[in-house]
Amino acid sequence: MTTILKGKRIVLGVSGGIAAYKSVELARELTLAGAQVDVVMTRAAREFVGPLTFETLTRRPVRTEVFEQWTEAESGHVSLGERADLMIIAPATAQVIAKLAHGLADDMLSVTALATPAPVIVAPAMDYHMYQHPATQANLRTLADRGVRIVGPDEGLLASGLVGPGRLVPTTRLMDAIRATLGSNGPLAGVRVVVTAGPTREPLDPLRFLSNRSSGKMGYALVAAAIDAGASVTLITGPTALTPHSEASVIGVESAAEMADAVQTAVQDADVLIMTAAVADYRPASVAEHKIKKSSDDLTLNLTRTTDILASIDRPGLLKVGFAAETTSLLDYARDKLRAKHLDLIVANDARTSMGSDEGWAYLLEPGKEAEEVGPTSKAELAEVIIDRVASLLRSRRTSERD
Ligand SMILES: Cc1cc2nc3c(=O)[nH]c(=O)nc-3n(C[C@H](O)[C@H](O)[C@H](O)COP(=O)(O)O)c2cc1C
Repeated sequence: MTTILKGKRIVLGVSGGIAAYKSVELARELTLAGAQVDVVMTRAAREFVGPLTFETLTRRPVRTEVFEQWTEAESGHVSLGERADLMIIAPATAQVIAKLAHGLADDMLSVTALATPAPVIVAPAMDYHMYQHPATQANLRTLADRGVRIVGPDEGLLASGLVGPGRLVPTTRLMDAIRATLGSNGPLAGVRVVVTAGPTREPLDPLRFLSNRSSGKMGYALVAAAIDAGASVTLITGPTALTPHSEASVIGVESAAEMADAVQTAVQDADVLIMTAAVADYRPASVAEHKIKKSSDDLTLNLTRTTDILASIDRPGLLKVGFAAETTSLLDYARDKLRAKHLDLIVANDARTSMGSDEGWAYLLEPGKEAEEVGPTSKAELAEVIIDRVASLLRSRRTSERD
């Protein structure tokens, strides 16, 4: 489990749209991630989902009324909002959006939204015509101008049977937005990070390619950890089965050559490059125009070196982090790579156990320092340790530039 949500007080406002059932999943995900989730429901929301569902999942009482039987001294009508680290309203109906835009406060949800100094995220969900109505559009603009973060809606099939914008975005996207908002003032705030991830594919003919077992999990975990720390992140990814973080700029590539081009461009205005991608060292010397047919028992492939991306990047001031996945002499190879490619940090791991796994176990090596072992742990936690180290390397670099 990652740390960004641990112990955070999240107010989840649920209003009366058909998508209210989806916020049940959000409440569960937030709770599982260690957040303290206080659900506030409108009266209409209770027509769609019972408060008991939220109470069971969050293990906390659901607020529905301003004039409830609670003591004002302990938990007054505004204290939920005052104490919150973040408030998210998902789904947000046209009605709730209009109320927030006009500062109305006639139920617990709208009172809490007015009373909170915390960042507010609004995830609209409604019928296509309601969403496109100039009144709703103007209200959303008003909220955005006031600093409220609007997430979605998505386009697709709506409960009304119409197809168009109005669907609540998926829970993963809401979680990404919550994490990014909570982390926005973190140690990497204002830092631009490029992460490469996944395998490359080197074509042999129109049907076939040479590739490797990299899943992209380490790189994607690093993207999440960097965004949690406040960075703006560009992910350059080979083909993987994973869904990229919705707050990252994503560039999809296939071959090592495409990845090299994308990295060269992306690092021009980046502060940090983290290369987790398992880039092919060799590619077929030529790509057959048509399918290679079976004609004899043996087939000999001629391979040629690909560009060494990390070694080819020499932008002054760029902090470079490399990964070494080896099956033998791990630390020796990693030290050689650290030196040869002028890296600030290298993460060395055993390729046989790390590739494709959710587990992370690695050594962190910096020039002139002893190797530090991290793990066994999850790749998410290993990613946090690496990002912490990147933040401290940047800090010490800035301090030495000032002195
Ligand atoms: C079956 C049904 C589905 C509805 N779905 C939505 C919806 O997705 N979005 C929306 O803005 N309003 C929807 N409404 C209308 C709202 O429930 C209505 O505007 C209500 O007053 C909203 O109250 P609240 O914003 O206080 O929750 C729906 C109404 C019904 C009966």
